[in-house]
Amino acid sequence: MGKLSKYQAPSLKEARKRINKDTKHIYYELDKEYIGLGNGKTYLLKTYGCQGNLADSEKISGLLEAMGYTKATDDSESDVIIFNTCAIRENAENRVFGELGRIKSLKKARPGMIMALCGCMAQEEGIVEEIKKKYHQVDIVFGTHNIHMLPSYIASIYKRPSRIIDVYSFEGDIIENVPQIHDHPKKAWVNIMYGCDEFCTYCIVPYTRGKERSRLPKDIIDEVKDLIDKGYVEVTLLGQNVNAYGKDFLEKGYTFSNLLEDLALTGIKRIRFTTSHPRDLDDETIAVMGKYPNIMPHLHLPVQSGSNKILKKMNRKYTKEEYLEKVEKLRQSVPGISLTTDIIVAFPGETEEDFEATLDLVRKARFEGAYTFIYSPREGTPAATYENTLTPDEKKARLLKLNDLINEGFYEGNKRFEGEVVNVLVDGTSDKDPNMLTGYTPHEKVVNFPGSKDLIGKFVNVKIKKAYSWHLRGEIVENN
Ligand code: 5AD
Ligand code: SF4
Repeated sequence: MGKLSKYQAPSLKEARKRINKDTKHIYYELDKEYIGLGNGKTYLLKTYGCQGNLADSEKISGLLEAMGYTKATDDSESDVIIFNTCAIRENAENRVFGELGRIKSLKKARPGMIMALCGCMAQEEGIVEEIKKKYHQVDIVFGTHNIHMLPSYIASIYKRPSRIIDVYSFEGDIIENVPQIHDHPKKAWVNIMYGCDEFCTYCIVPYTRGKERSRLPKDIIDEVKDLIDKGYVEVTLLGQNVNAYGKDFLEKGYTFSNLLEDLALTGIKRIRFTTSHPRDLDDETIAVMGKYPNIMPHLHLPVQSGSNKILKKMNRKYTKEEYLEKVEKLRQSVPGISLTTDIIVAFPGETEEDFEATLDLVRKARFEGAYTFIYSPREGTPAATYENTLTPDEKKARLLKLNDLINEGFYEGNKRFEGEVVNVLVDGTSDKDPNMLTGYTPHEKVVNFPGSKDLIGKFVNVKIKKAYSWHLRGEIVENN
């Protein structure tokens, strides 16, 4: 291993800045000199965290396969191992460190192997310092803004072994045309924007992903049309706050509701989108959701807390009452819509009364599922400096109580489909039973049912026989 090369290290201070109003759109092309470098070699990609990371990983696969690499089936055989990491909570980071330790011996057995770490953890100063000091098995650290540089880092190491740490903390560009290999044959993630400007006080994402920047409508619409031509039937539009789409355009006017409508008009069979921010979800979007049957009747609308005091401390910029008002509007525009959410418990200063307000909101909003978390302090965010007097046991007790209530809603949400015929896009066979197929309904409910493998990737109508807490069970009634 040679000396550290002269690349950029991350800086939280720089990452916080929002000065640059102009976003550069760079149209990427893989340099010919990198094509073939991976011939006969394999790669393994481990992805942690959100859908944004899953989509990034599809781009990393696209780049590596364009270089000639193929997917490895086993850690010990791969020539390149990449960890695409998540920084949202401490336990996500601990898992990665555990894996890095485990994989150290592989590197000893295969010295030519390249190990890379990217994603949100790479954007954190403290983490990169720790990797530099303690994790010598890591050859490349690159951030969320420079995924497209990976081929050049690998080429540089092949020429002259060295350690490369290159992480940009600027506000971010948009890199178009990075090759992408979709993991699913019929469903695709489509980034519509990158970054986040909300600065919720607990959240590291605005620092790790840079400023809010929207892709141009034409680039997104062309991508969806191309996906349709290739046989894709479902797209999930991605952004940290999709409802802020277009707010960064110098010429204002085209917003998320316009994009959603234009994409519905492409005729793609199913459209989903995530994540929505309750404050930015506007009436126009709610109206478009009700107008087009190919926009799926499910919305993930993170509420985080039901206490107005805590929402304020979180910098969420809405109240419990305003949130419930949006829920009501959604239910009117999209009858039967299923709503899911994210909730953080034990945020600094959360009293028993604040927590009760969250439980009350959960009952009123009638969520049909939620991701629930214990607050995890993130270095560099404002909330990390707030005093938290709750004990670990108190925090856990709140999470368990909340989860019980969420699970009731999950089951109720499933139960309403008993006896109904639902349309399912078949994903594959069930993990537990290879004779059972599994897929999602428009309301994003998992359905398991007996059927033959050649239905995978197709739509089928399934009559629901029984609802369970986490899934529905049914039988095919007719194919279409
Ligand atoms: N601690 C716990 N949960 C967090 N989330 C974001 N930051 C934190 C944190 N510091 C949760 C929020 C968000 C989801 C993706 O992760 O609920 O919506
Ligand atoms: Fe984090 Fe808030 Fe942005 Fe979501 S909206 S990514 S919670 S800062």
